Amino acid sequence: MQNTSQSLFERGLKVLVEGVSSASRGPATFGGAPRYMSHGQGARLYDVDGREYIDWMMAFGALPLGHAHPKVVETITREVTRGTHFATALEVEVEVAEILVNLLPHVDKVRFANTGTEAAMAAFRLARGHTGRRKIIKFEGHYHGWSDAVLINTNPYPPTLLGHPNDPIRIPDSSGIPEEAWKDTIVVRWNDVEALERAMAIHGHDAACVVTEGVMSNMGVIPPKSGYLNRMQELCHQYGALFYLDETVTGFRLAAGGAAELYGLSPDIVTYGKALGGGLPMAMIGGRAEVMAGLEWGKVLHFGTHNAGRLALHLTKVMLETMLADNQAGFSRIKDLGLKMGSEVRRVAKANNRHGIVVQGVNSMFQVFFTEKEEITDFRDFCTYVDRMKFRDFALRLMDKGIYMNPSATLHSLSSIVHTEADIAATARAMAEVLEEMP
Ligand SMILES: Cc1ncc(COP(=O)(O)O)c(C=O)c1O
Repeated sequence: MQNTSQSLFERGLKVLVEGVSSASRGPATFGGAPRYMSHGQGARLYDVDGREYIDWMMAFGALPLGHAHPKVVETITREVTRGTHFATALEVEVEVAEILVNLLPHVDKVRFANTGTEAAMAAFRLARGHTGRRKIIKFEGHYHGWSDAVLINTNPYPPTLLGHPNDPIRIPDSSGIPEEAWKDTIVVRWNDVEALERAMAIHGHDAACVVTEGVMSNMGVIPPKSGYLNRMQELCHQYGALFYLDETVTGFRLAAGGAAELYGLSPDIVTYGKALGGGLPMAMIGGRAEVMAGLEWGKVLHFGTHNAGRLALHLTKVMLETMLADNQAGFSRIKDLGLKMGSEVRRVAKANNRHGIVVQGVNSMFQVFFTEKEEITDFRDFCTYVDRMKFRDFALRLMDKGIYMNPSATLHSLSSIVHTEADIAATARAMAEVLEEMP
């Protein structure tokens, strides 16, 4: 069998770090050469050797409309002939902001950025500027981009390194991060009301914000316990800390109004990325007018040559219009497909009960955990009970059968509006075969 991916990887290793541009796409995740993709169409990806894959990763969730959607192609083809980027004020910038502010009741104003990391960096600075406080309260296993202040406790570790649940050991996830960068970042166990109440009693009055993912999405998929996020919001109000909901993953995926809508929340600050741009880099910081006013006239500074790129804004507009049309039919569709996929994987896993498998999902997002536990409810469960090597084996075997899921168990899969029932059936068949073959 031709293996152009392997030879590209060998060439790439000579000129690119790890042969790729983000560790999650390279050998650290694939254990060797990743598949080099040549093009995508609808729910399909095609590699450089012409092999076809049903894509359940969709660029880490950046593609709610799938690959090369006709409306996307039409928009980009039209707009690119009028110039790529001006770094000036734009009509489409106002139009997209109007759609977002009309859609999200907790957002009075937005500021556009390019990536989830940048948006989060600006949001932390804004929270500190607005409150005049230093501390940031974040949760174990939650990822808010790769900036120094919050790149701690985002990777799975051996359980012995986690420390006491009341007082997690803080561990930076990279060399090159000085302690000063994260000394004011407090790490708390997630999905545990008592742990949060205790942390707020100690740090709440010094906290600029409490930041959370709405669904824990960087340790597979772990939903919040009932009422947990509402209690977090209440505690923020009680202590005068801003409630910052990071919707980078959940935004325009779980519901039109993201995790805030799904769980009935009214955050003070939100950030979005990924799906927002429909496939081009686009992110935003949004919030109540008096909080967002902190960014005015550079009181809290946020710059960026590529902020509000015009092509990306046109794509954002098309993505929003398409997903919101017919009474938000796009969101109903991805939810139905995601739930169906989740129940099919459960059915297949039950039929082959040699492997302990738990499937967790929320609407369009799902993940398969190889575990003997009945449920994975937080980071500590994930670190202690999830067999990540087995998941990688599972995902790599699926790849050979034309199903593309990222081989990292910490990530997840998701549906787009172009997936079909036939894709679900084909994926379930491939999974049944793989589970049969796996040791
Ligand atoms: C919850 C969350 N916040 C922020 C980010 C950072 O986004 P980006 O990769 O666009 O910088 C991510 C990326 O996966 C994320 O999952």
